[in-house]
Amino acid sequence: MTISDYKTVLVTGASAGIGAAVVRDLTSRGLTVHAFARRAERLNDLAAETGCTPHQLDVRDTAAMTDLFGEIGADVLVNNAGVGRAIDSTVTADPADLSQTIDTNVTAVLQATRAALPAMMAAGRGHIINIGSVAGLYPLSSAVYGASKGAIHFMSTNLRLELVGTGIRVTEICPGRVATEFYDAAIDDENLRHKLKETGITEITSADVAASITYALDAPWYVNVARVELQPLEQTYGGVNFDTAPQNQ
Ligand SMILES: NC(=O)c1ccc[n+]([C@@H]2O[C@H](COP(=O)([O-])OP(=O)(O)OC[C@H]3O[C@@H](n4cnc5c(N)ncnc54)[C@H](OP(=O)(O)O)[C@@H]3O)[C@@H](O)[C@H]2O)c1
Repeated sequence: MTISDYKTVLVTGASAGIGAAVVRDLTSRGLTVHAFARRAERLNDLAAETGCTPHQLDVRDTAAMTDLFGEIGADVLVNNAGVGRAIDSTVTADPADLSQTIDTNVTAVLQATRAALPAMMAAGRGHIINIGSVAGLYPLSSAVYGASKGAIHFMSTNLRLELVGTGIRVTEICPGRVATEFYDAAIDDENLRHKLKETGITEITSADVAASITYALDAPWYVNVARVELQPLEQTYGGVNFDTAPQNQ
């Protein structure tokens, strides 16, 4: 199976960044692409540019999402919508931000997958692409966001086990820093946002991530690209921190 065998794609979080780049890539490859996000105007512009079908949807609205995905009956789902609210600190997190991150990045991804799978099961083929993060694989000092993407990592590996023998492929994409609006949506405080967002390095682009998704979709039917980890050359992970505790001072 290669990309030409797939027909219809669902992309969540398509109004910006990685999701919009995926829509551009896959429409240019001749696929029918349904684009979902909350900002209708952005989606309409993308539809005018690419020919995708726009749908205004909050992925936390399970009933609306289930109806739409059931009607469309796609063979590819790109679970991309995500936020980084409460990304900087758990101790100062607004409880509503913590919930928004988990509801969007974890619960909605599970609900979207559940809603998209019946059509793939009936067809005997399909592809679930989950946008995880290096934050789901390595500690980045971000408990809330790391928890959400760690959940996506284990959801993806377990889904592979659940779906073996069905013809449905599962791919987890784990980017490092990508130049998108992610931090603008994640952090309200201007100084903190600037500190976390402006790295001074050459970040990877949404188009780079979209190309890795197209690669996974384009693999022959007997190949499952299980995980792609792509980072800026100038970013890396790991290390050990030491600092004294209050009783040691
Ligand atoms: N940027 C990075 O460095 C990076 C690194 C690793 C992984 N990621 C992951 O990549 C994915 C895409 O993020 P991005 O970097 O492209 O950020 P972005 O430019 O901020 O795009 C996020 C997209 O998610 C949508 N979204 C957010 N909440 C939604 C909701 N409740 N319902 C529907 N759509 C929703 C937004 O659309 P609306 O606001 O219009 O709804 C937007 O289209 C996320 O899962 C993120 O965690 C990003």
